[in-house]
Amino acid sequence: IKVTYVAHDGTETVIEAEEGTSVMQAAVSNDVEGIVGECGGSMMCATCHCYVDEAWEARTGQRSDDEDEMLEGAASEVTERSRLSCQIKLDPSLDGLVVHLPEEQL
Ligand code: FES
Repeated sequence: IKVTYVAHDGTETVIEAEEGTSVMQAAVSNDVEGIVGECGGSMMCATCHCYVDEAWEARTGQRSDDEDEMLEGAASEVTERSRLSCQIKLDPSLDGLVVHLPEEQL
C-alpha cells in the first residue's frame, strides 16, 4: 500500500507499507521525518499528528472524540483534516494515500 508523506517544506516521501500498519508505524519504520509517534500508537501523545490530503479525507473518515482530545495538545495548528496518524490503519482502499505533515510535533 503506497503512502506519500508531504513534509512541511514540500518534500515528498513515498513508501510502501503492509496492510494493517498504521500511517504512523509506516512512517517511523521508514524513517520519514516529521512523524514522531512517541507513545507507540496508543493515543497518548500527539506527536503523530498529520493532515489528510483533501482528496483522501472521505476515505480515511472522521477523527474520533478521543483523537480530538489528544490533538488539543498538538504542537502545530489543528485543522479539520488533522488526524493522529497512528489511528489510520492502512488497507487496500487507502492505496495511494497522501498525508501532509505539520511543522513541528513536539
Ligand atoms: Fe501517540 Fe499516535 S503515536 S497518539
